[in-house]
Amino acid sequence: MDPGLAGGIAVLDFGGQYAHLICRRVRALQVYAALVPHWTPLAELKEAGVAGVILSGGPSSVYAPGAPAADPEIFEGNVPVLGICYGYQLLVKAHGGEVAGAGRREYGRTRVRVSDGDRLFEGVGGEELAVWMSHSDSATKIPASMRVLAASEASPFAAVRLLGGEQYGVQFHPEVSHTDKGERLLSNFVLGVCGAERKWSMLGFLQRSVEELSRLDGRVLCAVSGGVDSTVTAAILSKAVGDRLRCVFIDTGLLRAGEKEKVEGVLRRGLGLNVAFVDASERFLGALDGVADPEEKRRVVGKTFADAFEEFAREEGPFEHLAQGTLYPDVIESGRSTGPAAVIKTHHNVGGLPAGLSMRVVEPLRELYKDEVRELGGLLGLPEEAMKRHPFPGPGLAVRVLGEVTPEKLRVSREASRIVEEVLEEDGAYSDAWQAFAYVGDDKVTGVLGDERTYGFQVVVKVVESVDGMTADWSRLSSGTLEKISTRITNEVQGAVAVAYNISSKPPATIEPQ
Ligand code: XMP
Repeated sequence: MDPGLAGGIAVLDFGGQYAHLICRRVRALQVYAALVPHWTPLAELKEAGVAGVILSGGPSSVYAPGAPAADPEIFEGNVPVLGICYGYQLLVKAHGGEVAGAGRREYGRTRVRVSDGDRLFEGVGGEELAVWMSHSDSATKIPASMRVLAASEASPFAAVRLLGGEQYGVQFHPEVSHTDKGERLLSNFVLGVCGAERKWSMLGFLQRSVEELSRLDGRVLCAVSGGVDSTVTAAILSKAVGDRLRCVFIDTGLLRAGEKEKVEGVLRRGLGLNVAFVDASERFLGALDGVADPEEKRRVVGKTFADAFEEFAREEGPFEHLAQGTLYPDVIESGRSTGPAAVIKTHHNVGGLPAGLSMRVVEPLRELYKDEVRELGGLLGLPEEAMKRHPFPGPGLAVRVLGEVTPEKLRVSREASRIVEEVLEEDGAYSDAWQAFAYVGDDKVTGVLGDERTYGFQVVVKVVESVDGMTADWSRLSSGTLEKISTRITNEVQGAVAVAYNISSKPPATIEPQ
């Protein structure tokens, strides 16, 4: 068991998409939290000295055969418990209540009425809260030993507490940013009810990571792309292993405009790292020739990437380790968490590595979310300018070009995306956006240029706001900003005739168009 858990919070992982987000939110309260398998016995948790336990959400139904369960002793009152969504339903069932699939499903924003000023809701203000729900099963009957704290239209028992005990359950997700005062509710449980110790900090994480990584034997190869994740990965490894680190920038031909120059500026000149530059753009384009299926593109990019690495490693090696800037959302969305989460997209960082890879993979950021990585970058002394950059997907422009990847569509997407970023910077809207880019497919539209009819690409601009990439909403840009973007794209990008703005949130859409 993780020794850091003494005085902290164990989050039992029932496979929900937001399970790790709970840890992230608890850590934001400076309390250490870690995801542990859902079957972890109470005895082990007690031995580790946890201050409390949170039961995560999950995709199963509590009555389904083989549904993930918790150790029944957890519900006996020896440790404070907060059940969220599926975890809440387990809690209700454990105390003799009933859960059923009948009734109304609730997905997305829902209003709950708080009927009881219990300490769980202390300081959340008002009686009505907008919360994020995502469930089809509901508690249909709660036992006499429980008190109702809040209700929604479809869930009469949206929040409950065990009478005289420190066991709470909420049907909604306090951990997602769309739940009003979700942070306060978690802090009421973690700090108020559990009295957990506030001893976690990013600086502590950095020191622990550097210490652990410094124990790696041999040389480490790190791929850098100019993005925040790989830059921070390289910086932390360089602190840990010094000149046993070698960085390689593989130009896939699928990167944003000006990446090579950024890598040269920040890593080579700024940190004095040893970075090799390899131009593999022809190779990637060749491998992607005729491939239109998005998942296949991801696999091809992943495989070509891994091959290029291996070749470099063979020529410049030996290297014992391969470092990657994989973040937690990449891991969870690829279905590699400790729990039974469903695969959403095959993320290139984690999906494309061949089994026979001759290097061991090191992923120092795999526990972290983007905003935590940016904070870590700041602690490592990396320039703010480089740390505030938007995330960019591993498969790059291959997933921002719909259908087959052609040099022309790549150029249109790259140039139009650069314009979107420049206009947002100019209008002071860049930092408010999580991602801002332009994508293009094969749709062509008719336009007029001067007196002549033309036929060209319809470019789609997408700008979203998000806290962690797990959920996102489209940005309500001003009409002036939209107009500037549109005018510049049609004026400056050869072959672009029309501009559309994507107004879908995640869910149901994902952030990347593919
Ligand atoms: P989606 O599109 O799944 O994206 O809503 C969530 C976040 O992840 C990034 N993303 C990827 N990153 N490899 C990556 O390394 C991928 O295949 C990939 N697909 C999406 C995306 O840019 C967003 O920030």
